[in-house]
Amino acid sequence: MSTKSQLTQQLGVVAGFDDPRVDLEQYRTPPDLAAHLVHRADLEGDIEGKTVVDLGCGTGMLALAATLRGPRQVVGVDIDRDPLETARANARRVGSTSGVSWVHADATRVPLCPDGPTTVVMNPPFGAQDANRHADRDFLATAAGIADVSYSVHNADSADFVEAFAADNGGEVTHAFAAEFELPRTFDFHEDDRRELDVEVFRVDWGEDGD
Ligand SMILES: C[S@@+](CC[C@H](N)C(=O)[O-])C[C@H]1O[C@@H](n2cnc3c(N)ncnc32)[C@H](O)[C@@H]1O
Repeated sequence: MSTKSQLTQQLGVVAGFDDPRVDLEQYRTPPDLAAHLVHRADLEGDIEGKTVVDLGCGTGMLALAATLRGPRQVVGVDIDRDPLETARANARRVGSTSGVSWVHADATRVPLCPDGPTTVVMNPPFGAQDANRHADRDFLATAAGIADVSYSVHNADSADFVEAFAADNGGEVTHAFAAEFELPRTFDFHEDDRRELDVEVFRVDWGEDGD
């Protein structure tokens, strides 16, 4: 198994969004955060041999990280076709041997019924834009429906919300870890060249059948 820092390095070639859309909160998950999330998930036994679904896969960063850890299959879902093209090109750059099924679909009404143990990984929109209010809640609802476990990136102050949502939907937050998210200037309203965002990653166990 590659180390976490090797994984970070491998993901360094993943290109960002060509023309990021603010309404869909399109910014690339940083390679070190993606490597951290997938490495931790792998240590928990949630990647190797599992079906891994990346909801809101964008550039493919999390899906591609998972391909480097021996999954059974990987699916990436995004509502926007353009980043899926970028994700395909990124798959060639990363050079992983296991492929990814890239699916153009709304992750909140996802047409998937994965068989076998399934792990969702996601950096959903935080719901900061009007068009996307409660997006992270809707993405978690999808995870509750299709996954045995999920790993999701949220704003740093989301613990109460994620714990309550999980409990209301038959799940339980088993792990949480804080991380920093370096956000380069992406949209016109960003005032700084770079911003450090404090985020938290939650592992939710949704129970054996994902219900
Ligand atoms: C914060 S970005 C994360 C991207 C990805 N992890 C990456 O590193 O490129 C959120 C992603 O969710 C996608 N998205 C937003 N709303 C969606 C929806 N309803 N269904 C599917 N994807 C959606 C956006 O297009 C964007 O690619």
